[in-house]
Amino acid sequence: MLVEASAPGKCILFGEHAVVFGQPAVAVAIEQRISVSVRPSVDEHWRLEGHRLDAKKHPHLNTLRHRLWPTKAGAPPLSIHIHGDIPRASGLGSSAALSVAACAALRVARGRWITESRNGEQSWAEGYASTIDDTDAYSTFDEEQAGLRPSTYDNRTHQIQGAEALDVDECAVLGHAVEAAAQGGRASPMDASACSHGGIVMLSDVVEHGVEHLYQRQLEMSDGRRTWQLHDLGMPVGGEDLYLVIGNTGVHAPTGAQVAKVAEAIQLEPERMKEIETIGTIARRGIAALKRGDYEAVGRAMTENQIMLRGLGVSCPELDALVRAAAPSSLGAKLTGAGGGGCMVALTRDPKTTSEAIELAGGRALVSQFGNDGVRMETIENMPIWSPDS
Ligand code: MEV
Repeated sequence: MLVEASAPGKCILFGEHAVVFGQPAVAVAIEQRISVSVRPSVDEHWRLEGHRLDAKKHPHLNTLRHRLWPTKAGAPPLSIHIHGDIPRASGLGSSAALSVAACAALRVARGRWITESRNGEQSWAEGYASTIDDTDAYSTFDEEQAGLRPSTYDNRTHQIQGAEALDVDECAVLGHAVEAAAQGGRASPMDASACSHGGIVMLSDVVEHGVEHLYQRQLEMSDGRRTWQLHDLGMPVGGEDLYLVIGNTGVHAPTGAQVAKVAEAIQLEPERMKEIETIGTIARRGIAALKRGDYEAVGRAMTENQIMLRGLGVSCPELDALVRAAAPSSLGAKLTGAGGGGCMVALTRDPKTTSEAIELAGGRALVSQFGNDGVRMETIENMPIWSPDS
């Protein structure tokens, strides 16, 4: 009995940090992925790579098991294995990809209750989604209820199992909820949605025309409620010969601390909100360029975005060195993610030269194209792992 799901990492073309304040931003799913597999544990303990799961060390996995796994209804503890090629703590969404893949594996291992109405329409009897308001992925969940047969159970309620139970929006909303908890309550839904949906995801303060609107997300933060509209930008027009070259500084910088640093800077000097708004303006210009396939302008917006991020104090000498090295062979380059270390990204038609320049400047280069899958099931063997009727 085994269920395995994978999700891609992401890099951000424009708008990190400003998106936490509700400004527009764009994230791209990359080729590098993380896989999470679950199978019944050999004993009565949850296990990760054979060791007992330490809730403090792995808050993402711990929260997800409480949101999704019906322990109180008799579901057995699981053994979890993780593998993949997204460098950790480097701004490439490794924690969001892990949460999204874990959410998919747990949901598919568990199945989903579905209710059929009198006219034959099917709807979920339990789960989390942007269109459901009687379950809240963000608040502390009553574990007693996780996975129990819904109280409205009748003979029109049944369980679907396997890949059919997977829902991309559910993985994204739960991924955002655990990211927000890990970042002290301040996180945009960008990473979780990009890792869950794949492709290119755009966040905006308004519903944009001419692109597919996915859903709205909201989060209550210490300084007010944020609302984001999420969109799928599709494949970039004429972007087949374009590459993202990612340069890893190897310096680890936790996202939560970087996000808190920006919030403090703005609290101390509220007029610095202008810088956040300027990043929003640059992101809008970049998005317009991306939509019309003007990649020179996309690159310029990335480079301007980097200047603003440096001004905000979230770049570092190692990132600046890799951005400088990539610039001559690329259309634009900037840090990606929370900064302070981690990775930069360059948009280029010459990935070999750009990668070599990054490596010569002391970075590790990774190459990715556009158009990568979001969350997907890799293996479903000998299901179900557990069923409420068993
Ligand atoms: C981290 O990948 C991106 C940030 O904008 C934080 C967030 O969006 O939650 C720095």
